[in-house]
Amino acid sequence: MTKIAIFASGAGSNAQKIIDHFRETASIKVSLILCNKPGAGVLQIAENEGIPSMIIDKEKFFRDDAYTDELKQAGIDFIILAGFLWKIPVALISAFPGKIVNIHPALLPQYGGKGMYGQFVHQAVIDHQEKESGITIHYVDDHYDHGDIIFQAKCPVLASDTADTLASRIHQLEHQHYPAVIEQLLQSKIT
Ligand code: GRF
Repeated sequence: MTKIAIFASGAGSNAQKIIDHFRETASIKVSLILCNKPGAGVLQIAENEGIPSMIIDKEKFFRDDAYTDELKQAGIDFIILAGFLWKIPVALISAFPGKIVNIHPALLPQYGGKGMYGQFVHQAVIDHQEKESGITIHYVDDHYDHGDIIFQAKCPVLASDTADTLASRIHQLEHQHYPAVIEQLLQSKIT
């Protein structure tokens, strides 16, 4: 059994899709949800799904052991970031080498880095009059949006797009691909 922890800061629509995807998979289970924002939608999802959740304390995350003990005790094998806005500390990366992945709502290496999240990403893409945007699923290292790329998918940027309309097209692409890419990745590591 491979146990997944999802880290999220917001609504958690990707977390929901990942939970739905693995509901019937015997060998892979979403076992824990960690969130840095009390009241975030993803915590309600955890409650509805009966998945244990934890609110992350900033001091413990960045200056202490980055919840490594709790994750190891829960038997977590793999970490998925799904809209998690804090940088991952080196302590956590070292404890889970090659086992933390993130999704970014643009085509890295462009439109990534510090401050490039949510609507800021989509507005920058529109401001630069890009014809295409997309999603990037990548391993996490100690720089924002920087680790090796696992998967990308593209979608058009329309002349009429606002950051909101582009965000919703990108969200659809994320929901379509993120769970399946995680499954492929985990199956290739399990077998
Ligand atoms: C997604 O667009 C993801 O790429 C970004 O944050 C958003 C999270 O959305 N990093 P949700 O909370 O999964 O709905």
